[in-house]
Amino acid sequence: MLLRKPTDLTYADVTPKSVYLDRRKFLRGIGIAGLAALAGQRLLELAIPSQSVHAGTKLTSIKGPFSTDEKINSFNDVTHYNNFYEFGVDKDQPAKNSQKFVTSPWTVSVSGEVKKARKFSMEEILKLAPLEERIYRLRCVEGWSIVVPWIGFSLSTLVNLVEPTPKARFVAFESYYDPGQMPLGKYAGIELPYVEGLRLDEAMNPLTLLCVGMYGETLPNQDGAPVRLVVPWKYGFKSIKSLVKIRFVKDQPPTTWNLYSSQEYGFYSNVNPQVDHPRWSQARERRLPEFFKTHKTLMLNGYGEQVASLYAGMDLRKNY
Ligand code: MTE
Repeated sequence: MLLRKPTDLTYADVTPKSVYLDRRKFLRGIGIAGLAALAGQRLLELAIPSQSVHAGTKLTSIKGPFSTDEKINSFNDVTHYNNFYEFGVDKDQPAKNSQKFVTSPWTVSVSGEVKKARKFSMEEILKLAPLEERIYRLRCVEGWSIVVPWIGFSLSTLVNLVEPTPKARFVAFESYYDPGQMPLGKYAGIELPYVEGLRLDEAMNPLTLLCVGMYGETLPNQDGAPVRLVVPWKYGFKSIKSLVKIRFVKDQPPTTWNLYSSQEYGFYSNVNPQVDHPRWSQARERRLPEFFKTHKTLMLNGYGEQVASLYAGMDLRKNY
């Protein structure tokens, strides 16, 4: 499957298909009677393999704002069902293929329309603000969602330090890409390095998290070590992993999935149950490790109170 031409790969069919095929194999094996004996949830638990991942370093954090009180996913769910195309397009590949990824030393460069362009080492980033634990939902455009105790602080803290000029209207983000360490990247079917973007006011919204950890520890490699974004009201692909560059710009920057298929993946990509993906409905979602879409998808992923005003007067069907 990895040898398919990039033009044959679509976001939707690459990864879920493997889960689907695995499940088909599994279902054939157990038959109808066995199936009836297994509730949907248990079934999916079997589809998410349990493997050990590198233990992270403990992080001390305070309780942050905006946390949901929904049930938190297990560490295993969140670390073995990933999208990180640099390490392979199947959900179980990032956990297997990222364990030797070198994430130290690490710097994030900040440049463009700012008064104080500079580089931040990871050590400097960790000292910028008290680390907060924020339990956010993340809703993937493919239809699954997770609830994770992320650790970090509002991206606005870093933005304020570099002082954007009045010309800065957007923020462009770029992930690390090293074909040597990420040999499957060339079969990803998307252009790498992975790039993303936000409008400046979205980047400044306190919900936008510069994330350095989860479950009380530094980020596992497959979840975007050592630093990523979590933008909880947008589809998961906006939450760029293993961040190395932040650039303040005048014009809307290119974004990876929009470059891949602009009809399917817009710049805004706000979670919206009323605006379907051209190939599937976005009205419902399945919470890992469940199989069935038992959850109604919430407008702006349930964060409307914090962010709906950013889109006042905008047609969200056009600005998908
Ligand atoms: N960032 C990079 N660099 N590469 C990726 O492939 N995948 C995105 C996003 N960030 C991706 C990325 C997608 S599609 C999703 S849904 C989330 O990461 C998944 O984050 P998780 O694996 O920690 O749940």
